[in-house]
Amino acid sequence: MSLSPVEQLKRQAAERAAALVRSGMKLGLGTGSTAAHFVDCIGEKVRDGLDVICVPTSERTRAQAEGLNIKLSTLDETPELDLTVDGADEFDPKLRLIKGGGGALLREKIVAAASRRMVVITDASKEVEKLGKFKLPVEADLFGLTATARQIELAAKANGCHGPVSLRYSAPGARFITDGGNAIFDCDFGVIPDPDGLAAALNAIPGVVEHGLFIGLATAIIIADPAGIRVLGDLSA
Ligand code: A5P
Repeated sequence: MSLSPVEQLKRQAAERAAALVRSGMKLGLGTGSTAAHFVDCIGEKVRDGLDVICVPTSERTRAQAEGLNIKLSTLDETPELDLTVDGADEFDPKLRLIKGGGGALLREKIVAAASRRMVVITDASKEVEKLGKFKLPVEADLFGLTATARQIELAAKANGCHGPVSLRYSAPGARFITDGGNAIFDCDFGVIPDPDGLAAALNAIPGVVEHGLFIGLATAIIIADPAGIRVLGDLSA
């Protein structure tokens, strides 16, 4: 099957990350079109004898990995992972991320936090000087969504962010529901002047289950662009 130019770049980043994997490792498998290339790479290596155990970050990734005969586990059975490889919707020079475009941010963050290393794989289109071009996903409990949206707006305002907070729909009239049974707000704040401050403020809202700012989690970012592969951070950390 021939890949489009952008899919080829995602595949190159995924192959570079797959080269970090050794038999015996416990892996977190991310979600999204870029992470899917990594899962394919692991599937090929498993077919050739690689022995790893993997925790998927979504039901979608679980189904893909099962189809490739990748040995799966849960964080209950395997609470500490060596390496998680995942995509991102946006990243800045400090290795801070926006994630959740695919709606899997809660499990992605839980799995990344359980991993010694998190390597992000991406094409160069996701690189920004300041986070916020991509609408920030915020996962919220279904109870009291309107009140939660208001609290998100107030927390955002106190952190220099303004813009609509919109409930995500998967079809007209059908709210998008995450694997965990929650809703997602997409927050169109534009540039986020203080991602750390906003992250802390969102964490303090009771109705917010988790948000898509990943701060202090990524240890390296593999960026594929037509000129070649670049790495931010430390792949061995
Ligand atoms: C899933 O919820 C997201 O965090 C994805 O990791 C992110 O949206 C990147 O997806 P793509 O690789 O499809 O751009």
